[in-house]
Amino acid sequence: MTTLVTASGLTKKYGDLVAVDGISFEIREGECFGFLGPNGAGKTTTVRMIHCVSPVTSGTLTVGGLPSGIGNRALKMMTGVIPQEINLDNDLTVHENLVVFARFFDIGRREARVRIAELLRFVELEAKVGSKISELSTGMKRRLLIARALVNRPRLIVADEPTTGLDPQARHLIWQRLRQLKTQGTTLVLTTQYMEEAQQLCDRIVVMYQGKILKEGTPSKLVEEEIGREVVEVRIPQEDDERVLRHLAAFPCAHERVGDTLYFYCRDGHGLMRRLLELDLPNTLNRPATLEDVFLKLTGRSLHE
Ligand SMILES: Nc1ncnc2c1ncn2[C@@H]1O[C@H](COP(=O)(O)OP(=O)(O)OP(=O)(O)O)[C@@H](O)[C@H]1O
Ligand SMILES: [Mg+2]
Repeated sequence: MTTLVTASGLTKKYGDLVAVDGISFEIREGECFGFLGPNGAGKTTTVRMIHCVSPVTSGTLTVGGLPSGIGNRALKMMTGVIPQEINLDNDLTVHENLVVFARFFDIGRREARVRIAELLRFVELEAKVGSKISELSTGMKRRLLIARALVNRPRLIVADEPTTGLDPQARHLIWQRLRQLKTQGTTLVLTTQYMEEAQQLCDRIVVMYQGKILKEGTPSKLVEEEIGREVVEVRIPQEDDERVLRHLAAFPCAHERVGDTLYFYCRDGHGLMRRLLELDLPNTLNRPATLEDVFLKLTGRSLHE
């Protein structure tokens, strides 16, 4: 498999603030690669360097073998961007928003008309073709951003939190469309705060925190390695921990106290639950381990702002 994006020691500083701190990664052609991380981790800053709107402070970054840099038109031509902020032109209609982008990419008028009709069908917005942006719901706006990102038939799509603020229906529709693009061979770079989104879409992910990459891997491998198979949550007062832990002393699992909950990470959650039943505790829950557990373990369970 060929590598499409290569970053080595990639760094971005804003004055004294190091937003991206010497990270290295490789994105393969045709995969979906996810950047996960809490607010301010440096996800948007990283993907903005990939799609050439933010200069690299130091380190190297190449896309399709070309050095990434502001104004690199060849790279802009092969990339589609779904930005975190909804930056549609409110004075224009749905159709006109797409026409502007088609012009930027030097797509002829007739060809643009064909592509725009096709794209509006793809994102299920045909009925809104003449509507003003202010008449669209947030989900529709996000779908229009996807259509706009596809006007130049890009080889690489950068999607920065594409489903933030959407209801489950709208989110699932966007997931389907992004998966469809991947099936057609498009490479996807995704940032997200939604662990389910990463699990649904990404072949590989990195977890970022304070500008650094903490971990890299496939979602299922990270869950298996960092957490295990199952999680048991026990909501008891902290002073009861000792009694519970003593009872489970022979049971192979890791535990952690966070706020009002005692967490157990283990392979055999059912077995653990049976042992806990002997203690007659009021509030216990057994569930499969998820990427969210990995995320919270790596980046902490409290706010760091
Ligand atoms: N244009 C800018 N000027 C100065 N500082 C910036 C700028 N853009 C981002 N930062 C800072 O860089 C750091 C990383 O921000 P970034 O937007 O990349 O984070 P993020 O991971 O995308 O967060 P979020 O999940 O909130 O979108 C933050 O501390 C942010 O305040
Ligand atoms: Mg961001």
